[in-house]
Amino acid sequence: MHRRLRDYIGDNVLKIDLTQIRGLDDLNQPEGPIQEAHELAAAAYGANFSYFLVNGSTAGNQAMLMTALRPGDSVLLPRNSHKSATSALIMSATKPVYMPPEVDQELHIDHCVTPATVAAGLRANPDAKAVFITSPTYYGATADLAAIEEIVHAHGKLLMVDEAWGPHLHFHPELPLSATAAGADVCVNSTHKLLAGMSQASMLHTTGERVDQGRLRSTLRLFQSTSPSLVLLASLDVARMQMATEGRALLSRTLQLARETRAALNDIDGIYCMGSDHVGRPGVAGYDETRIVITVKRLGYTGYEAEEILRTRYDVQVELADLFNVVALVSIGDSAETVGRLIAAVRELARARRSATDVPSGILKDRLQAGSYQLPAIPEQVATPREAFLSDHVEIPFLESAGRVCAEVVTPYPPGIPILCPGERITNDIIEYLRLELKAGSHMQGPVDTKLRTIRVLPSP
Ligand SMILES: Cc1ncc(COP(=O)(O)O)c(C=O)c1O
Repeated sequence: MHRRLRDYIGDNVLKIDLTQIRGLDDLNQPEGPIQEAHELAAAAYGANFSYFLVNGSTAGNQAMLMTALRPGDSVLLPRNSHKSATSALIMSATKPVYMPPEVDQELHIDHCVTPATVAAGLRANPDAKAVFITSPTYYGATADLAAIEEIVHAHGKLLMVDEAWGPHLHFHPELPLSATAAGADVCVNSTHKLLAGMSQASMLHTTGERVDQGRLRSTLRLFQSTSPSLVLLASLDVARMQMATEGRALLSRTLQLARETRAALNDIDGIYCMGSDHVGRPGVAGYDETRIVITVKRLGYTGYEAEEILRTRYDVQVELADLFNVVALVSIGDSAETVGRLIAAVRELARARRSATDVPSGILKDRLQAGSYQLPAIPEQVATPREAFLSDHVEIPFLESAGRVCAEVVTPYPPGIPILCPGERITNDIIEYLRLELKAGSHMQGPVDTKLRTIRVLPSP
């Protein structure tokens, strides 16, 4: 390797960047150290089986659906599922039945689906084979997994949980109930998001006997590289070890830092930072207090603008921005110094607030002044995601696409929640919503034309 990178990353990373040679085990057929690491992970998470993933929770979500469902089967899932769930629908040739999440109109935040929504969904769709839940959300709300587990299993269905944002939950009693503790049949954790796993390093866990482990392993082999990075696998094993041995102490410190951060932010005039006081509101059965959602709309900035200012002027990088909020994470790697920088930066941002007359006019100004935001209704589903994604298509001007059937996934990123999925009929409300997101600075993932001047649709209306 050229010195320029080698000197930077160090020789040890390269020394363990080996291929699957004898003695080092094989992620796709583990029998030695990787199998042992899987078993230790299962024990740490209260699972009966755990699997390391080197293609993120994306691969885990895809494997979950492919394992449990057959082509044509339907699955109940929240509309605010991550786009990896959409990719899983495309790959598994399954039909989505979307459940509406609870929406906080004031903060412009989608929370979780409620047990009542799940029960109603199952009553209306008795043929659905599984229920897929996202918990925690990007914003830290968790679903009532204990109640949902009872409902789903009483109906004889499978419960899958996208717990990408909750790899730490299992290790502290003051954090919300983890998916494995709630008895989800299968769940994924992005270990790389909040613990010491390196980017792409995730885990999939199962509990109980409902998941066919043989099929799951075969499916994982479809989605994982035959040359998994041992650097990533080592980071997963060490992340597990760190949680198993010192997780509670590390997370106690993290929670304390996060609580102090939230309190300090809420003392800043013009700033609001939601917290566990939201628990009990619709779709917020629990709250991960390590998530710091900073609502900036009273400062006259969009979240996107605030993110940019925090990054360029104060060298503080937040996890995500939306129209009204920025989201920061307090993790086991943080310290009083790092959160202090965030607080100081937000204080400066609030001091430099923009007066109403400085906000550029147009729909963005209207939305900021109204302080609320209507998400578009879930559109009519005309074809399955797979049929539409793989079908022939034509490219037409986006602004003239109302009434046509979308052939792409259109996802403002972050947070990565699709507004249009393949097979859905485009509406004027959706066009307006996406125009606003683009104008406000959101990046579109999925469409071939990321500026959405054009969109791919099915040939016949
Ligand atoms: C809720 C949710 N699920 C799944 C994923 C995909 O995870 P990964 O990046 O580990 O593939 C993400 C990524 O942001 C996510 O937010």
